[in-house]
Amino acid sequence: MVLANLGREDALAVRFVGVQSRNGIGVETKGRGRMSWILIDSDLTESARRESLYNGTLFLTTPTPATKALCDLAWEMIEDAFGDVDPHEAQDALPVEEFSNVIGPLKTNFTHEARSKEAITAMLIEFGCDPEETYFDIPRLRVVTHSNYLTAGLGYAYQPHRDIWYAAPPCQVNWWLPINSIGLASALAFHPQWWSNPVPNTSSGFDTYEWNATGRADAAKHVKTDTRNHPVPSEEIDLSDDIRIVGQPASTLMFSGAHLHSTVPNTSGRTRFSIDFRTINLSDLVNRVGAVEIDDGSTGTTARDFLRLTDRSQLPEDVVALYDVGSTHSGPLVFDPSVVS
Ligand SMILES: [Fe+2]
Repeated sequence: MVLANLGREDALAVRFVGVQSRNGIGVETKGRGRMSWILIDSDLTESARRESLYNGTLFLTTPTPATKALCDLAWEMIEDAFGDVDPHEAQDALPVEEFSNVIGPLKTNFTHEARSKEAITAMLIEFGCDPEETYFDIPRLRVVTHSNYLTAGLGYAYQPHRDIWYAAPPCQVNWWLPINSIGLASALAFHPQWWSNPVPNTSSGFDTYEWNATGRADAAKHVKTDTRNHPVPSEEIDLSDDIRIVGQPASTLMFSGAHLHSTVPNTSGRTRFSIDFRTINLSDLVNRVGAVEIDDGSTGTTARDFLRLTDRSQLPEDVVALYDVGSTHSGPLVFDPSVVS
């Protein structure tokens, strides 16, 4: 199923092909006998939204003042980095190594920029998140080039994966915002038929502290091929029921870190820019509330990467310890974003 360019006017049109739920416009999708929901501009409370996310619901919200401010900031930085060249078409003018040399510092700067974190804080408060209970990790700027120009390292095109395979807590919520106009040919794909079905995968070989020491820090070294230890399906799986949800620039897609999702190969002829970050909720962590983990073998935890909205403090170590299981590696417990490139 594909939903294209859902703005408010378009969202109204969805009423007639979808289902009007009590809490927003809902679209029912079916794949392999399982029902999934996409709620558009839902008015669920924040806690009800989390609960629904943990059950596999996808949420799309049309642009808001705070999401526009975040995307405007990113676009300003992107334009500065590429100078006189149109960022959407810069890859046509630059050798891939040179392109990589531009987006490396750009991505780092966006992650480090205090205004990025301030904009995300404002956005999360606007979305009803409790600033005392909500923790977020560093924002990422994603650059997805077209025509297989750069699919490794800084432009890694994610194969189907669940974020929990990367040792994310089961209550992790992913937030994804396209900065510019994207089409069906450069979107994010979800594979909800695998929400409640295990996927044979390589996550048992993934350790978050080893990844902190090598995989994340070494992204820029991978230009032609990506030999990092990304957790991926270990055998071919049926992805024929994928869902692509395409919102306007500065729309927000929210989904559980347990959802199987992937990067759609970009055949649009333009480079795609997007922002993503993740949140976790302290009470849900403490109470072990979240999506059911059905096929995760990763070790360690990314919980230390998250900072509280109010004071940027880390989670209490006794809470982190609830999720810090299985690691025998001695890499950094917390990823050092200063080495993101
Ligand atoms: Fe992901």
